[in-house]
Amino acid sequence: MHAPTLIAKKRDGEVLTRDEFNWFIEHLTQLPREQIGAFLMACQLNGLNDDETTALTLAMLNQGARLAPRTNAVDKHSTGGVGDKMSLVLAPALHACGAVVPMLAGRGLAHTGGTIDKLEAIPGFNTGLSLGEMNANPCFISRQTADIAPADAVLYAIRDVTATVPCIGLITASILSKKAAEGIQALVLDVKFGRAAFMQEVTEARALAKSMVRVGHELGMNVTAQLTDMNRPIGRYLGNSHEIVETVACLKGRGPADTMELVYAQGMALGYDITESINDGSALASFRSMLTRQGVQERVVDELVNDPWSVLVRESTPYVIRAASEGTVMELDALIVGQVLCQAGAGRSRPGQSINHGVGIEVHAKVGDTVAKGEPVLTMDGPPDLDKRLLERLSQAVNIGSGDVVVPPRVLETLTVAQI
Ligand code: URA
Repeated sequence: MHAPTLIAKKRDGEVLTRDEFNWFIEHLTQLPREQIGAFLMACQLNGLNDDETTALTLAMLNQGARLAPRTNAVDKHSTGGVGDKMSLVLAPALHACGAVVPMLAGRGLAHTGGTIDKLEAIPGFNTGLSLGEMNANPCFISRQTADIAPADAVLYAIRDVTATVPCIGLITASILSKKAAEGIQALVLDVKFGRAAFMQEVTEARALAKSMVRVGHELGMNVTAQLTDMNRPIGRYLGNSHEIVETVACLKGRGPADTMELVYAQGMALGYDITESINDGSALASFRSMLTRQGVQERVVDELVNDPWSVLVRESTPYVIRAASEGTVMELDALIVGQVLCQAGAGRSRPGQSINHGVGIEVHAKVGDTVAKGEPVLTMDGPPDLDKRLLERLSQAVNIGSGDVVVPPRVLETLTVAQI
């Protein structure tokens, strides 16, 4: 086969065959980035039909190893959000309840944060486990490697910086090829809709959820998808180190209500009520063991749990966004917040770029809170030489008005194979 011809076929709206997807994915490491980027953009612009989506998922899955199936092996994955730290709380909490959690996660994508980037804020945390380490580990969070989900590792990094994330077929193949490689039986998917979601409209998010439930079912997993609101940031801390700080608070039973609403709902979808494990400290103990198994020294684990900022980097300069008038916070635009964080260094604009784990935001006033004129709404921890235009943009995320605002629950609806 010939890469330019295959790219042209997809560009011109034709349907690619299973063999063509197999060929493209098998040759991924030999193809120049320009061709991969062009292929992804052709998929983005023309979409993938159901057969193509399944074909791409299988091609990606077959390119890497699979973990040995284990009893009670479950996992969760999100389509990407701002302040989305639920995996970091849920994985150890599920393990504390008796589940095996072999979690393959990703780095940040576009303006959304990534579980792997957040974990790499913890000194010593190894996000690249070997297959042997993964198979022996009852609860881990690792990234794609050269052994497992290698095709997603390549495509993911290129999609991040080429505006080719929000495509139902590409997201389905990326997530389901990773999850099928884990050898799990059940999976809960957090499918986001709203301003900062890749699927801004509920109808698009529902279509994505259906696509992932369908492919997951075809691959033998019991998949539940929850459509959740991503218009406003999740929790009070946003950014890499910042979300580790909030994760520890959640595991100590002091997490913000909206974050815990999602964590509990995700646990329930997998058949686990994790409330007790948070209240009795067993989820925190499981988090500690996960960190130790993934290379973090005992002393660092102790410090992280007792005083997170003593071991995490935090940018030196606080920039405060204050309420321009008194009133109610009507809106906190999670897309603007995510874009500002990413552009300030918490995310990437080039593949492989190193990021600044210390850039982050504390949310003082959430949607529905009342504020006095001049009261802090957001504090961004940034570098001293931060481009001040980013602060102007950040202030546009805050909309203060008069009157009441209805704050909807995070979970809008749940889909399983029976509903697709
Ligand atoms: N998470 C993934 O792993 N892949 C995507 O495409 C989006 C979110």
